[in-house]
Amino acid sequence: MRIKNRKRFYIMIGLLCVVIFLLLVVSFGMIWTAFSNNSSAQSDSSTVSNGSVQGNRTQETSTSDPTEVTDQSDTMVLVNKSTSLDKNYVSSDLVWVDLRGVRETQLRQEAADALKNLFKEADSKAITLYCCSGYRSYETQQELYQENVKTYGQKQADLVSAKPGQSEHQTGLAMDVTAESVNLDLDESFGETTEGQFVKNNAYKYGFIIRYQEDKTAITGYAYEPWHLRYVGKDAATTIYEKDITLEEYLKN
Ligand code: DAL
Ligand code: ZN
Repeated sequence: MRIKNRKRFYIMIGLLCVVIFLLLVVSFGMIWTAFSNNSSAQSDSSTVSNGSVQGNRTQETSTSDPTEVTDQSDTMVLVNKSTSLDKNYVSSDLVWVDLRGVRETQLRQEAADALKNLFKEADSKAITLYCCSGYRSYETQQELYQENVKTYGQKQADLVSAKPGQSEHQTGLAMDVTAESVNLDLDESFGETTEGQFVKNNAYKYGFIIRYQEDKTAITGYAYEPWHLRYVGKDAATTIYEKDITLEEYLKN
């Protein structure tokens, strides 16, 4: 091919090179901007999830998981179908309960001391109570719940058994009590026995409440459990007993 105007040809080639160079610069700039945005987003999220900015973390948790209990070790902690404990939560002050029982079981120190005094008054009145079940880990509750679902079906199981993370037994503040009059079982008829009546009318003096009262299923979410004692401390227990209300109602006011 013959080039008529050599000078013009070189100018055209020069311009083409400049355009290609500019295109390369712009493309490189765009790639660089995209890359740096991405890495800054990644470092923000790791700051939040590793907990070094507690404020952001709390906000993030409460938006994405409004059911998480805030202070798990508070003796007034509300654990129910709307508020769950962390899978890994285990109280640091669990002790083996030194009382008559169906099996060895644990409670938090404060609750164990209070239960000792409740049993002492019962003993003084020739009322023989037995501990049945205190602290349960998340995993134990999971097994129990699954067993209940298998036996009774989901709907009935949900009335009598908490899902893992939603059981007060994981707090170490709940104890199921029983008596020989009900064959050391956990049965609604316990509420009518001398032992059940004693517990109902005296537990508050030691800081315990009957957590799942009769006719309060709409509020608590569970069927009547006259055997399930929950430690909340003397003041709250006395008010709850005198006003005949649930823990949910007490905490709302
Ligand atoms: N039975 C009570 C609701 C529990 O499983 O914790
Ligand atoms: Zn219980």
